[in-house]
Amino acid sequence: MSKIQFPKPGNFIYPVPAVMVSCQGTDGKPNIITIAWTGTICSDPPMAYISVRKERHSYEMIKESGCFVINLPDKALAHACDYCGCTSGRKVDKFKECHLTPAKSSVISAPMIEEAPVSIECKVTQIIPLGTHDMFLAEVVAVHVDEKYMDEKNAFHMDDIGMFAYEHGTYRELGAKLGTFGYSVRKKPTASKSSSFKKPKKSTTPVSKSKKRTSSFRNKKSRPL
Ligand SMILES: Cc1cc2nc3c(=O)[nH]c(=O)nc-3n(C[C@H](O)[C@H](O)[C@H](O)COP(=O)(O)O)c2cc1C
Repeated sequence: MSKIQFPKPGNFIYPVPAVMVSCQGTDGKPNIITIAWTGTICSDPPMAYISVRKERHSYEMIKESGCFVINLPDKALAHACDYCGCTSGRKVDKFKECHLTPAKSSVISAPMIEEAPVSIECKVTQIIPLGTHDMFLAEVVAVHVDEKYMDEKNAFHMDDIGMFAYEHGTYRELGAKLGTFGYSVRKKPTASKSSSFKKPKKSTTPVSKSKKRTSSFRNKKSRPL
């Protein structure tokens, strides 16, 4: 492989999520800002970050209130997600323009976006000035998911949501599954004596619909990353 070096180093870690962060100022008006510089930073306590430029309308709202909600959008919200990243709450009511509903959070004062399939309530613990952006470190204090992605065993089916990612200026759907955590080292079931029998055909029902998977809040111990 022959690589060329860019003349200047820059941000090149992609894909990343594009999330819709909802917040509320002291005047009680809610706002939404789209954020790509976000992620998980600690497993226990559960912590996340968002990096926000000081000039954003949302910056002061988050700083003053000390909280925000990270809403994960599905494909149906992609257009609104882009809109909330191209317009300012100084000029427009983004909830109204996008026909979205602010919903009361359970712990913090900032509202969730009712229409988002996943809403993560965050309490700011630290603000770290970095340069163009300030990083808001936050503790995750509550997580809400659309009940239609829960099955009768209380397992959560995240891959049924239809999320998308942001890749160097482009929004992209997520593709086919390549494997699951640890699949590279997982022991394959030892083949009992070689035989000419064909393996029984797998059910054609998508696993997510068969409601038998282990990806859940209830029965899967999530991997400590
Ligand atoms: C896909 C996407 C990702 C963005 N990521 C960030 C980000 O990580 N941090 C940031 O400060 N602004 C980010 N922006 C820009 C803000 O969302 C945008 O300036 C927005 O209009 C600010 O809204 P506000 O003035 O109502 O706070 C992003 C915009 C888009 C479209």
